[in-house]
Amino acid sequence: MGKKNKNKADEPQQVTKTETEIILDLLEKTLNIEGDVVEFGCYRGDTSVLMKRLLEKQNSEKILWLYDSFEGLPAKTREDSSVAGDQFQAGELLVTKREVIEKFKRNGLRLPKIKKGFFEDLNPEEDVPAKISFAFLDGDLYTSIKTSLKLVENRIEKGGIIIVHDYNNPELPGSSRAVDEWLKTHPSKNLEVKETLAIIR
Ligand SMILES: C[S@@+](CC[C@H](N)C(=O)[O-])C[C@H]1O[C@@H](n2cnc3c(N)ncnc32)[C@H](O)[C@@H]1O
Repeated sequence: MGKKNKNKADEPQQVTKTETEIILDLLEKTLNIEGDVVEFGCYRGDTSVLMKRLLEKQNSEKILWLYDSFEGLPAKTREDSSVAGDQFQAGELLVTKREVIEKFKRNGLRLPKIKKGFFEDLNPEEDVPAKISFAFLDGDLYTSIKTSLKLVENRIEKGGIIIVHDYNNPELPGSSRAVDEWLKTHPSKNLEVKETLAIIR
């Protein structure tokens, strides 16, 4: 399931090791596609740092764009209700933008573009790149996933990949709901599920 590794400070907390490997593998496979890389819901920047390291190692000129409220999760809607996921309340997973910046500095990486704010309040023209090759959507909740899918759907390039985290995670049922609803309106898209990753091409 999705939310693991809770006690290992230097390892990704929110994404399992296997999921991280899948994400990095697919990111690498899209390096030849035009467009930038986005992560909606970066939290502490654990996966972000790994993605940026890969981009720098491969001398990629792609820009990494990170998005987070830096106020923690917004309120759940009824689509998110789950006894198993009771711990995911509004304000949970709060970190500061400064913490993410420091993490990149500690890792000797150039800073990505970091946009603070709720996804719903972003200005798509200014805040989201026009072309996207790889999108990692990890906002946990129904509305957050729905909004981030909407922000990337017309920007993802042919051959690009969208990965949504927490698919089939009983703690966060809103993620699957948002993906399934979106797929119904995008019948040309293919879904592959690995671990709790919905891989959309
Ligand atoms: C599970 S964490 C992300 C983990 C991160 N992707 C990683 O790999 O370590 C979810 C993050 O999404 C953010 N988030 C959820 N919904 C959001 C929204 N609607 N707008 C902005 N940020 C949101 C939360 O603040 C939280 O930091």
